[in-house]
Amino acid sequence: MIDKDTVDKIFDAIDIVDVIQDFVTLKKRGVNYLGLCPFHNEKTPSFTVSPSKGIFKCFGCGKGGNAVSFIMEHENLSYYEALKYIAQKYHIEVIERELTNEDIEKKNQIESSLIVTAYAQTYFSDTLFNTDEGKTVGLSYFKERGFREPIIEKFQLGYCLDKKDAFTNEAKHKGYNIDFLVSTGLTIKKEDRVFDRFNDRIIFPIHNLMGRTIAFGARTLRKDKNIAKYLNSPESDIYHKSKVLYGIFFAKKSISQNNKCYLVEGYTDVLSMHQSGVENVVASSGTSLTTDQIRLIKRFTNNITIIYDGDSAGVKASLRGIDLVLEQGMNVKVLLLPQDEDPDSFAQSHSSSELIDFIDKNETDFVIFKTKLLLHDAKDDPVKKANLIRDIVKSISVIPEKITRSVYVKECSTLLDIDEQALYSELNKIIFKKYKAYDKNFKSKELKGSLQKQAVYSKDNSDVLEREIIKLLLNYGNVEMYSGKNNLEGEQTITAAQYIISEIQHNELELINPLYKKIFDEYKSHVEDDTIIDSKFFINHSESAISNLAADLLSPSYELSRIWEMHDNYIETEEDKLYIIIPEIITSYKNQKIMSALKSTEELLKTAQKENDIEKINELQQRYIALSKFKIALSKNLGERTIL
Ligand code: CTP
Ligand code: MN
Repeated sequence: MIDKDTVDKIFDAIDIVDVIQDFVTLKKRGVNYLGLCPFHNEKTPSFTVSPSKGIFKCFGCGKGGNAVSFIMEHENLSYYEALKYIAQKYHIEVIERELTNEDIEKKNQIESSLIVTAYAQTYFSDTLFNTDEGKTVGLSYFKERGFREPIIEKFQLGYCLDKKDAFTNEAKHKGYNIDFLVSTGLTIKKEDRVFDRFNDRIIFPIHNLMGRTIAFGARTLRKDKNIAKYLNSPESDIYHKSKVLYGIFFAKKSISQNNKCYLVEGYTDVLSMHQSGVENVVASSGTSLTTDQIRLIKRFTNNITIIYDGDSAGVKASLRGIDLVLEQGMNVKVLLLPQDEDPDSFAQSHSSSELIDFIDKNETDFVIFKTKLLLHDAKDDPVKKANLIRDIVKSISVIPEKITRSVYVKECSTLLDIDEQALYSELNKIIFKKYKAYDKNFKSKELKGSLQKQAVYSKDNSDVLEREIIKLLLNYGNVEMYSGKNNLEGEQTITAAQYIISEIQHNELELINPLYKKIFDEYKSHVEDDTIIDSKFFINHSESAISNLAADLLSPSYELSRIWEMHDNYIETEEDKLYIIIPEIITSYKNQKIMSALKSTEELLKTAQKENDIEKINELQQRYIALSKFKIALSKNLGERTIL
């Protein structure tokens, strides 16, 4: 653990712009800085850094935090590691404090596991290069397969002797704790006897992002069909299979540089491609990709090409899994190798330029690939074709970018020889279903979560909220929202009126009550003309309805004056709390509007469905989806509203 004084020093030294600028190009915009968000794919910058607050926030994906959380997220580090990283950057000497027993236990557990695993790796490599059996069985096998020493050394390949417990005994002899040998899966314990899990196999160490060995894959060289070809380390403190990709440590730099990642199936595919000079390659180790693995790749690039064996029966089986990758907003291509080739054999039998050339010429966009493949299968069978359309549209529906979706609809409509409108209709159905499900989920969460407070407002009709908004506008319109102690240094100031008006306008909301709307519109035109308008203007208004209302709204409330009488000393006033009160009211108002819009859309939809008006149904479903999205965004916003 890092000593508290050191932590303070680190936080004092942090200049968030300086820290983030090592990873993101930032441009100054007013008091803030703006750049392209490193956590999601975007073309227009919405990643904002506020030096005065020491925070970053992406308005696209919602990620936000301080400099330390940025480093944790961006570099995949723990809190402790991130602090150390920043300390190093600012040349701050890190003093570690005494660890509590619990700290020690946890840290030791992981560190011991890593140490044992690192030892095993060197032991297996040593066995491969320096024992007779290692050389004649393991090393000669690798060489026969075309792996040369630099690649064997780089990937730290190894060999485990064909002796029941040679490794375990040696490890014990060297003082490694048997408990950790067992928990990391290197040793199997049965009653009192111990065995090496990987005996009689060649060894592929699996590294984490930082390059430390966390597990092993071990291949038998025996032809016996009863022996599993590969044995892998079990899950442990340090190895979570679903979060790891084989080769990521050696590939990450090249993935960034090439802005592309190749995905293959096996260990040997990674090795051969590396050896032939294509280093931006990782393996899923034979299983379908998990979301965690996709996110791991996404940290370095948005472009992924999945390479399939030429005879792969698995292509079709894996198609569904790729929707997960599309869902992350990644650009997915696929490449089918020639008959009877896998990435390993192809890389071994071709020069690196031939390999690269082949990939460039033959990789195909995934959605198009899938469409063609299924179309070829369906031939003229109408039932198959209907299923295939549903299947393709399902893939398109998970793509987050609307523009990308429409490009695919267009292309697939040509390929499938189907009207675009029909595809949209199918697409909307799927997306609509998804948002309906979201909606349910949202409602139940709403009751439990932070919206509870908002529900007080939501239950009332919009008239009450509109009155509240107008009241705030009249009472505090010219007041800076961040007054007194809430006014942060260097903060752009904004008046309550500017805030309220821009929020209402930005969201294209219309006040319903004609009287409130009149006041609002008049106030707005003054603000737009940059003329200051005060409450007297409305109190003295020529329309008596307005002046009466203004007087009513401007009189101090009974509650408030009573509190003032009870305390002579300073208490927090409504005015002090504007930066909380106003956004809260506005959010409630938006919520209210969306709720009623959703409801009316649903009603209209029912009618349209009865009338079987396809075009109308489509249009209403789109509207429903847009509203739901808005609502979700709003719910995320509640309680953590910040104005940068
Ligand atoms: N795999 C596994 N367990 C198995 C079989 C396969 O974990 N019983 C994983 C391994 O990560 C392997 C990948 O699936 O690398 C691909 O399997 P396969 O093509 O059978 O193995 P290769 O690595 O290509 O090995 P080789 O070229 O020696 O056949
Ligand atoms: Mn293979």
